[in-house]
Amino acid sequence: AKPIIIDCDPGADDAIALFLALAFPEQLNVLGVTTVAGNVPLNLTQKNARCLCELAGRSELPIYAGCSRPLLRPLITAEDIHGRTGLDGISLPEPQMPLQAQHAVDFLIETLLQATEPITLATLGPLTNIAVAIVKEPAICQHIKEIVMMGGALTQGNITPSAEFNLYVDPHAAHVVATAGIPLTMMGLDVTHQAIATPERLSAIRAIHSPISAAMLGLLAYYGARDMQRYGFSGPPLHDPCVIAYLLQPDLFTSRRAHVAIETSSELTMGRTVVDWWHLTEPLTNTNVVETIKADAFYQLLTHAIAKLSQG
Ligand code: BDR
Ligand code: CA
Repeated sequence: AKPIIIDCDPGADDAIALFLALAFPEQLNVLGVTTVAGNVPLNLTQKNARCLCELAGRSELPIYAGCSRPLLRPLITAEDIHGRTGLDGISLPEPQMPLQAQHAVDFLIETLLQATEPITLATLGPLTNIAVAIVKEPAICQHIKEIVMMGGALTQGNITPSAEFNLYVDPHAAHVVATAGIPLTMMGLDVTHQAIATPERLSAIRAIHSPISAAMLGLLAYYGARDMQRYGFSGPPLHDPCVIAYLLQPDLFTSRRAHVAIETSSELTMGRTVVDWWHLTEPLTNTNVVETIKADAFYQLLTHAIAKLSQG
């Protein structure tokens, strides 16, 4: 199984991404889950990660709390989409599984430096933890097989017309990550907006009737209502699960290499991913930019995951 660390800010779509990742231990060996401030503050993202892993029957997984604010900018959260708790639409019991004492950044550094094979990082939130780890111990870079990040947009942003939420929250961290020389895959909004959770695509999950499927549908009912209202979609886009699907089944996606830079100075375009398809300013590429997803097959994979996880 591929060793991975999941860095996240649950969040409704982060929750579903965790379920997807934990359903296939024979393919993904999740070494730990690190949490960051993003959709909601850190005290909630770390707690939510524990609630979700416990619900998925994985209470032995180590969960770490990382950075409680972005590098330079004040924290911006997304309670309007994910609710006050970050997981509105469901109510889970207080988690029994512990929060690890070690800081997420130190866990990342220690685990990467000790790794006998390169580790993949799946990033589902602002990139603060990853950037701080790189700055604190640059030697980790050679131990990272790849970073697959949910973030960025080739066309429209979702927090400003220019920027996608995760990169807008901490554009400076994204800049550190994009310039570190680590293989980077960008799963931006142009892809995730192809992965709409329409009622038809959810019907097989609706038929499962387990605590996990109920949690997923409860989260989507809350998060979906808000996202659909705002954008006029026929269901909510499942951003973060696309990252995990890419690790499980890369042939569901197409991508092209390009140079990607992150805007960190203009307020109007702060956090924008500037993609240089035509080598206008950069001869070299630093990013594998994902462009398309086979959405129906993605929902089949997700359905399989929820069914598998529901069986325990
Ligand atoms: C990203 O922002 C968050 O609200 C979601 O969890 C996802 O990671 C989408 O822009
Ligand atoms: Ca997220």
